[in-house]
Amino acid sequence: MNDEKSPVTILVPGWMHERSVQRIDAAFRMVRTERVDPALLTSEMKRDVRGIAAMGFREPVDAALIDALPNLEIIASFGVGYDAVDARHAGGKGIVVTNTPDVLTEEVADTAVGLLINTVRELPRAEAYLRAGRWERDGNYPLTPMTLRGRHVGIYGMGRIGMAIAKRLEAFGLAIAYHNRRPVERLGYAYHASLEDMARAVDTLICVVPGGAATEKTVNAAIFRALGPDGVFINIGRGSTVDEEALASALRDGTIRAAGLDVFANEPRVPQALIDLPNAVLLPHVASASVHTRNAMADLVVDNLISWFSARKPMTPVAE
Ligand code: DGY
Repeated sequence: MNDEKSPVTILVPGWMHERSVQRIDAAFRMVRTERVDPALLTSEMKRDVRGIAAMGFREPVDAALIDALPNLEIIASFGVGYDAVDARHAGGKGIVVTNTPDVLTEEVADTAVGLLINTVRELPRAEAYLRAGRWERDGNYPLTPMTLRGRHVGIYGMGRIGMAIAKRLEAFGLAIAYHNRRPVERLGYAYHASLEDMARAVDTLICVVPGGAATEKTVNAAIFRALGPDGVFINIGRGSTVDEEALASALRDGTIRAAGLDVFANEPRVPQALIDLPNAVLLPHVASASVHTRNAMADLVVDNLISWFSARKPMTPVAE
């Protein structure tokens, strides 16, 4: 199926990475809708669509869309997190769901460490100081009260990305602990069965867990209290994991010291309470957003579709 265009119809609902769009268009019959909404599907689309390619962390492939497509076989989701896809509903109907793991692991880990350093050393604030001409006008930037030295880091979610972050932080000489549902075999880091116990033992919490009901608002006021006044919270996983109101008030009243956030509960909306805080470094969900890595993710989406429709073998199916 390399050079020949397949007669299979693939639906691309809403916004999608351009490289995926081009490759799907070259390999399949592609139909697009402006946004994810079953009401936008013509009866011909409903009949013909056998695959969906969607941004799994922002375009919701919900039960209504799945049920509107009687011949759907596969949902190829862009991103390692696929919380916008109702994978359980799809699985119940025998529909395969794939995501894009591995190709983004190192990039996301790099961003997590970069965000940690930027948060602890307050580099965005120092840059704003210079750009505002204050170095020249007011003199040297006041020393940063925090340091990375001696920090004890707790990783919430020791999967592939968590491990890549831990490996990097080991090179900084930092102590590392982790919380997962179950301990990882033969891993030399301290395991905590309870997130709150881990938060009490560390001063830096890095959240890498996927979104969804199991993790929703598990990082809350009690966790911030346990982390304590020198606490730094980094979130590179999903915003839904955090009680954002509790986070804003913990940052405001000094329950914890600082936060670095790449993800938010209701993207692209960022709570004003967080924007107003000088001790929060805020990024627009860019952990994997280099051209190199996003292209690799885009390719994996399309390779999953090609592999399914040519050999019935999805390359990276999710486990539901
Ligand atoms: C993912 O792949 O889930 C990331 O959040 C996208 O950057």
